Amino acid sequence: MTRGLTFTAGVLTALIAVVLVQETCCDAAEANDHYCPPSSCGNIHNISYPFRLKSDPEICGDSRYELSCENNRTAVLYLFARKYHVQEINYNNYTIRVVDSGIWKDNYFSFPGYSLTRHNFSQYRSAYTTYLPKWTEDTKLSRSVVLMSCENPVNSLLYLDASTCNIDSGEDFKKRYRYVKVGRTNASDVEDSCKVEQMFLTSWPGNDDPVNTSCTDVHNELLYGFELSWLQVICEPCSQISIYNYCYLDDADLVQCYGKFSWHKDICKLCEKFRS
Ligand SMILES: *[C@@H]1O[C@H](CO)[C@@H](O)[C@H](O)[C@H]1NC(C)=O
Ligand SMILES: *[C@@H]1O[C@H](CO)[C@@H](O)[C@H](O)[C@H]1NC(C)=O
Ligand SMILES: *[C@@H]1O[C@H](CO)[C@@H](O)[C@H](O)[C@H]1NC(C)=O
Ligand SMILES: *[C@@H]1O[C@H](CO)[C@@H](O)[C@H](O)[C@H]1NC(C)=O
Ligand SMILES: *[C@@H]1O[C@H](CO)[C@@H](O)[C@H](O)[C@H]1NC(C)=O
Ligand SMILES: *[C@@H]1O[C@H](CO)[C@@H](O)[C@H](O)[C@H]1NC(C)=O
Repeated sequence: MTRGLTFTAGVLTALIAVVLVQETCCDAAEANDHYCPPSSCGNIHNISYPFRLKSDPEICGDSRYELSCENNRTAVLYLFARKYHVQEINYNNYTIRVVDSGIWKDNYFSFPGYSLTRHNFSQYRSAYTTYLPKWTEDTKLSRSVVLMSCENPVNSLLYLDASTCNIDSGEDFKKRYRYVKVGRTNASDVEDSCKVEQMFLTSWPGNDDPVNTSCTDVHNELLYGFELSWLQVICEPCSQISIYNYCYLDDADLVQCYGKFSWHKDICKLCEKFRS
């Protein structure tokens, strides 16, 4: 008797889940029924789902992926109330590359003046992530540029003396020694007399453990900006069903949904079709 009840309850739950899931799917499908031509702003020509411009019809795109178009020339993304210029949106691998709006080509050495690391994006299911989920191992999309200030001079191939870079200097600049470190940095790489002053992200393609970094290298790294993934929005129909479901990119950059139950997989495929 108890067994029978549990079974019925189980079937009911499953049915309700299917109905709910199909509704989540079809929200996206409805939005797509309403044709939204790609928008354009400056060099970014192909702004389409999930991205939208502030000026687009409300039904287009997803509000979490809203960009503003400044002076009709620059696509701008606001993250943590900071302003970033969009360099490219990649629909092939679900990434966007942005650069802090304070970093300019002609400003030879400008650090953003605040810290931004992978931790800032580590909130559960945030709209942007700093990695791409892969089946075997997540792909990191960026690494850190670290600005350190030290009480004593440091002589290391891994440290670039920031005073040679014409860095914008504050008052206590002369009292301390400043260095920049690029690539992988772990706690043991920070010399005893040093503390981390600022950290920033870059996706500049390069060695994880570079030596003899130059001021120009660092400038290029900051100017290149960093990639973020927006795959989360594509994965939502898959992960909303249950915490046991998640999605990832396979080796051909195709979205795959992994579910505890096989029918989840079909539903995610269905959503994916609607969205493309
Ligand atoms: C624009 O983006 C869509 C995906 O949203 C893609 O199918 C299309 O090929 C892109 N067009 C160009 C010119 O990049
Ligand atoms: C922005 O640029 C587009 C395409 O060049 C043009 O059609 C539009 O009128 C411009 N809008 C403003 C407000 O300048
Ligand atoms: C994503 O695609 C863009 C354009 O093809 C490429 O420049 C970028 O390196 C790719 N990112 C990853 C993580 O594969
Ligand atoms: C990122 O996180 C760090 C440490 O919590 C914080 O100091 C910093 O202000 C955050 N950055 C932004 C842009 O919010
Ligand atoms: C951190 O640095 C130490 C010493 O250089 C090295 O042995 C260790 O493997 C590093 N750890 C990571 C996670 O890179
Ligand atoms: C880095 O610079 C040092 C000193 O100038 C030099 O001896 C070394 O060969 C350089 N290493 C690389 C990988 O360029």
